[in-house]
Amino acid sequence: MAPIVELAARVGAVDLLVVPVFAGRVAGPGADLLDGALDGGLAAFMEEAGFDGSLGEHLAVPTGGRLSARAAILLGVGPRDGCGTDAMRRVGAALARKSGRAATVVTTLLDARSPETDPAAAAQALAEGIVLGAYRFTRYRAAAKPSALKRVRVVHRATAGLRAAVARGVRVGEAVCLARDLVNEPAEAKSPDAVARIARRVGRQSGLKVQVLSGEQLVSERMGGVLGVGGGSDRPPRFVRLEWSPPRARGTLALVGKGVVFDSGGLSLKTATGMETMKTDMAGAAAVIAAMSTLRDLGVKTRVVGYVPLVENMPSGRAVRPGDVLTMRNGTTVEVLNTDAEGRLILADALAYAVDEKPDAIIDLATLTGAVTMALGERIAGLMGMNDGWVEAVTAAAGRAGERVWRLPLPEDYKRVMESEIADLRNTATGGGAGTITAGLFLRDFTGGLPWVHLDIAGTARASADDGEIAKGGTGFGVRTLVELARTFAAPTR
Ligand code: BES
Ligand code: MN
Ligand code: ZN
Repeated sequence: MAPIVELAARVGAVDLLVVPVFAGRVAGPGADLLDGALDGGLAAFMEEAGFDGSLGEHLAVPTGGRLSARAAILLGVGPRDGCGTDAMRRVGAALARKSGRAATVVTTLLDARSPETDPAAAAQALAEGIVLGAYRFTRYRAAAKPSALKRVRVVHRATAGLRAAVARGVRVGEAVCLARDLVNEPAEAKSPDAVARIARRVGRQSGLKVQVLSGEQLVSERMGGVLGVGGGSDRPPRFVRLEWSPPRARGTLALVGKGVVFDSGGLSLKTATGMETMKTDMAGAAAVIAAMSTLRDLGVKTRVVGYVPLVENMPSGRAVRPGDVLTMRNGTTVEVLNTDAEGRLILADALAYAVDEKPDAIIDLATLTGAVTMALGERIAGLMGMNDGWVEAVTAAAGRAGERVWRLPLPEDYKRVMESEIADLRNTATGGGAGTITAGLFLRDFTGGLPWVHLDIAGTARASADDGEIAKGGTGFGVRTLVELARTFAAPTR
């Protein structure tokens, strides 16, 4: 359960008080309370402890029973002018991580925001950070230790706008946690059918219409990529369509998420180490399902449709072979030369399906290429797309959401390496490098000329260590961007 976050007028009786300090030991709002408890000795205490207020650093302060809070910590928030929304999110996460066994916390952190930062944006980010910092995946631990944190009171004058921002931050944080849970779940427990059933349940709980295609329906819907890739597994493929349809909707946004519940590589088998994290290969699907779970609660006025192809990529007597040709939903034929380049095959069908329903814009999220990690590492996603207005809208939404993306080009002449001897396309390049870009160029053939953005989240979907609001393991990357996009959507014109 995510902690409750609420605005409060004063400190009150709680387990822990968390007070900000700016870099260089500049006492932040609320620090006077602690200075009083230390008889004016706060500055000397910080100095002695070597605490300087760097972002995320903390220092426990003895309260001598003189405060209504049983314990207190100082939390570094970095330079005063640098405390924008990204810092707030990190600080919120630090609060949750450092709160130890405290169940109730009160904090004056929101007042540490830099003057040019919008209070509502700061409040949302702080709440997101608190919920994300409290995240643990404990399902498979014998001695499960979920976070003790139950309630965080944020000292600030309450306005309707600020209350809504805090509630939004909690709701978005919970959705990111849902995506993390789905990614962290072992593949054994998340067959395509199991994920489809989770999507149904989430949809039922959040006012979405959910349809699941299986078996013959996939054949009649001409899902050649999904059927080809999914055919090697004993656990058959599914295709999920989720729809949020508010009254008098302003435009339609299509979300597409790669849902490979496990990527062994198929007959083009991966190495043992290459497979270790391949339960993560449905992170795009998880982000779409999780983001859509928030739309009703956030009162989103745009129609949003999610398209989630779900397969398991396995080698078997029924698996697609190198050299086989598949016919995608839009009629394009693809020679499969490497069965490990499976994501683009299922996305081709999903994009074509989305295009058939004529949305105003499309965004897809996919753990598509190892190459994107070579280029951008594990904190920045690769972004490619057509229609500069839409590319800019997605980039701006990601910026506001605190998820980093970087645009890569889709140069026409790089398309040559995707030419097949016998079919319309091949699924892997003949050479020339730029694996992330050639994958993007492949996808572009299925977007029908509509405004489209592709996020390659192969690097960002999983983290190798805790860092700020990010927890080691599944990150839920993309959920925040998708929610922000849906909330602020305007059909692209350029
Ligand atoms: N799911 C992988 C991409 C991936 C790799 C994600 C590492 C996360 C970490 C994808 O299906 C894949 O195998 N891509 C191949 C493409 C190649 C065969 C053209 C790759 O990146 O090696
Ligand atoms: Mn693969
Ligand atoms: Zn894959």
